[in-house]
Amino acid sequence: MADFPIKRLRRLRYNPLVRDLVRETLLTKNDFIYPMFAVPGTGIRKEIRSMPGVFNFSIDELVKECKEVAALGIPAVILFGIPEHKDEVGSDAYSDEGIIQRAIRAIKAEVKNLLVITDVCLCEYTSHGHCGVLNGEEILNDETVDLLVKEAVSHAKAGADVIAPSDMMDGRIGAIRKGLDDNGFKNIPVLSYAVKYASGYYGPFRDAADSAPAFGDRRSHQMDVANGDEAIREALSDVEEGADIIMVKPAGAYLDIIRRVKDATGMPLAAYQVSGEYAMIKAAGKLGWIDEERVMMESLVAIKRAGADMILTYFAMEAAKVLDRNK
Ligand code: PBG
Ligand code: ZN
Repeated sequence: MADFPIKRLRRLRYNPLVRDLVRETLLTKNDFIYPMFAVPGTGIRKEIRSMPGVFNFSIDELVKECKEVAALGIPAVILFGIPEHKDEVGSDAYSDEGIIQRAIRAIKAEVKNLLVITDVCLCEYTSHGHCGVLNGEEILNDETVDLLVKEAVSHAKAGADVIAPSDMMDGRIGAIRKGLDDNGFKNIPVLSYAVKYASGYYGPFRDAADSAPAFGDRRSHQMDVANGDEAIREALSDVEEGADIIMVKPAGAYLDIIRRVKDATGMPLAAYQVSGEYAMIKAAGKLGWIDEERVMMESLVAIKRAGADMILTYFAMEAAKVLDRNK
């Protein structure tokens, strides 16, 4: 192969129009899924302490905000619910009058052109903050899966477009797929949080969803951050169980995993830029230590370049505005 001075890699970087021609990764608004938090009450729009620009919304306010999201051209939201009452078995999660079920119905009644994805887990609904039902300090797998199926079906009944289980119990994708099919929802896709790490980056989310575990942590079901091969096993087993879209979470510190899972599965891949990733960029931006907008866009392009087809990000609305402005 020819070398310098025949070869000059800078030739393609002098002219901005040439740079546009050879750019490999294009970020668009169609890539974004915006996470939102529903709380009980009315007229509530409360900023989350550790996530500036992200709010807890009562359902009426959530509907208003969803209209803005759709008007910006963002195709999808993912909903998390904080119920009025939490209990040992997370009853609100699978109640047809639960916070999320009511939120879905309200959005579907009033907002056009917006996909409603719902997070399926129990940790926002249990008094102990764990992702499943407990026996002592053990999170019971199979008993939890039964409740997750009920939760998923009740979301679909309320009108959810896509179901996204985030619990990391074994066998839940197959069970949820069967539950949906048996209840007439064979065309509702399952977006599996297939590769979810036991990460420190979820800290601010636990402020937002008031879902920090009362004791212990999530290491008995979420993945060890040191493991990569296991991510492939997790992803392949969810594909076998019927997952339609595979998620890797978090995103920024796991770009290698995004690439490996994409290459190994060839499945549509979602990456979740989580609360801690958002909070760090926001905090450094507020201090004036980084150019926040630039780092925001760079972080998103990097996730897409790694192999993500879609990105769950708290930056969705801000980034959409930047993309519109730079068109
Ligand atoms: C619920 C769930 C969590 C997140 C998404 N779904 C919290 C957790 O697993 O502790 C984290 C999202 C974020 O940090 O932005 N299981
Ligand atoms: Zn959980």
